[in-house]
Amino acid sequence: MSDPLLSVRGLVSGYGSTRVLQGVDIDVPSGSVVTLIGRNGVGKTTTLRTIHGSVAPTEGSVMFDGTDITDYSPEQTAREGIALVPEDRRVFPGLTVRENVEIGRIGGRRDTTKPAVEEIISEFENLRRHRESNGSALSGGEQQMLAIARALVSAPDLLMLDEPTEGLAPSIVQQVQRKIASLNDEGVTILLVEQNVQVALDTADYVYILDKGQVVHEGSADDVAANDDVLDRYLGVSAVE
Ligand SMILES: Nc1ncnc2c1ncn2[C@@H]1O[C@H](COP(=O)(O)OP(=O)(O)O)[C@@H](O)[C@H]1O
Ligand SMILES: [Mg+2]
Repeated sequence: MSDPLLSVRGLVSGYGSTRVLQGVDIDVPSGSVVTLIGRNGVGKTTTLRTIHGSVAPTEGSVMFDGTDITDYSPEQTAREGIALVPEDRRVFPGLTVRENVEIGRIGGRRDTTKPAVEEIISEFENLRRHRESNGSALSGGEQQMLAIARALVSAPDLLMLDEPTEGLAPSIVQQVQRKIASLNDEGVTILLVEQNVQVALDTADYVYILDKGQVVHEGSADDVAANDDVLDRYLGVSAVE
């Protein structure tokens, strides 16, 4: 078997003197969708930030495509081909959809031709018709699509999404799920953080459950979905369909 695209080992990080991650191990194989789930406050966002380089680890390592990126800045990880769609989406309300997406062209990879902004926007049916609208005019689902579109203009190999379905209506949740699946079909490797366990298990191939800054369980999405004990203990949910 080839090495995973992303390999995280013994990752420890936090904020100031507060240690949040207590030694996290995660592998994301090339071409897969891996999800990281767990209760609120267990360190999911911190894990993505530490991989991305906006939080510095104090111990452990992050390998990406054969390169040790443990101490890389966000600009450097972007250049390697990693994009993060943050929890808060960061849509600029006073900029148009097109301008918001253009921001994604700053930085990022140098060794591939970045797709044109128009090309990316045209792939999102609910952004196309809002091209010249301000960010402030978008619904929650449209803002999420915009945040994803912005990440895609850097042509990432690894797309990390932090709770992309949060606060969205069920029909829009499905749209986001379909988008993630189609991006994966096109060859983008995905690391997905989700609060919505059903969405996570439906979308992912492989699952890591985080609790108090550590991976406490991992397995295929089917195995985790069938494990009532684990679902109840770490996620506080009962049977998943
Ligand atoms: N910027 C920050 N400064 C200080 N503490 C933070 C910051 N962001 C998160 N934390 C703390 O780190 C812990 C893990 O947070 P987070 O990674 O956001 O969890 P999750 O994404 O799993 O809900 C929480 O106790 C949270 O309060
Ligand atoms: Mg979070």
